[in-house]
Amino acid sequence: MRSIAMAIALAVSASAAFAQQQPIVIKFSHVVAPNTPKGRAADYFKKKAEELTKGRVRVEVYPNSQLYKDQEELEALQLGSVQMLAPSLAKFGPLGVREFEVFDIPYIFPSKAVLQRVENGPIGQGLLKLLEPKGIIGLAYWDNGFKVMSANKPLNVPTDMKGLKVRIQSSKVLDAQMRQVGAIPQVMAFSEAYQALQTGVVDGTENPPSNMYTQKMHEVQKYAVDTYHGYLGYAVIVNKKFWDGLPADIRNELNTAMADATKYANAIAQQDNDEALAAIEKSGKTKVLHLTPAQRKVWQTAFQPVQKQVESRVGADLIKAINKEAAALDGK
Ligand code: LMR
Repeated sequence: MRSIAMAIALAVSASAAFAQQQPIVIKFSHVVAPNTPKGRAADYFKKKAEELTKGRVRVEVYPNSQLYKDQEELEALQLGSVQMLAPSLAKFGPLGVREFEVFDIPYIFPSKAVLQRVENGPIGQGLLKLLEPKGIIGLAYWDNGFKVMSANKPLNVPTDMKGLKVRIQSSKVLDAQMRQVGAIPQVMAFSEAYQALQTGVVDGTENPPSNMYTQKMHEVQKYAVDTYHGYLGYAVIVNKKFWDGLPADIRNELNTAMADATKYANAIAQQDNDEALAAIEKSGKTKVLHLTPAQRKVWQTAFQPVQKQVESRVGADLIKAINKEAAALDGK
């Protein structure tokens, strides 16, 4: 009898010890290739998080929409099927947080310096707080870059966009932007963009070069133009219940890993995009038109009315606050 009781006691304590050793798993799903700014930063976060928690956390990164496509991944996060994502800021509208679409307003950020000031200051941090009632915590902003326009015809001036069907992300600001120059926007998941371009379902699109190149969109687009009209970046987000339920020491280490990964993401993004643009040009498949400042100004002027049009959607005060930051930095 005594030996049975002892065996049971041993088994129970062994399984408790085993349970303790089981790592906490963070599934981190994203839609881009591993060799992009977001892909590389996600892998960097994994490495740092696992090192700092000494294996108590395991981060599983699922790139390239392997697990979920754009809209699905947000639902999966809220349901707790994945714990971490880094959707582009243009994809929070369907979640009911329209304010993030302010980042999509063409030419609202005259430079990366203004963008970083906005993200790291009260505006950007306030935006992340809007996610909490949705059961989501915003941990950081990760950079990608400014977008080029592409199509199968040369896009020298904004009127060249007229009548083109273009794939956009699910942002009403991007919808307004494309309509402003006479294009016909079509919302489509990132994972479907290449095929839609290849089969002619759409004629063109917009993306930072890193996305264009790694999705091979340059193989199915004849022309691109470096308008750099809009920004594409990310908010790294976690399921709030999961995050709040972590042991405090683990959460601290993960915060450190995230801070490191954010520094890394923001340090590599520009170079990744420069290299991708050079690779696109070298491929000889897409001809890239480089605008002079005066030519870029023509695009900027064409898109100017969008700011006013989207005021009621993203908030006039928010737009004003960003413009103020831009002016303040300009004056320095
Ligand atoms: C897109 O859908 O074009 C981008 O948001 C993809 C990404 O995550 O960079």
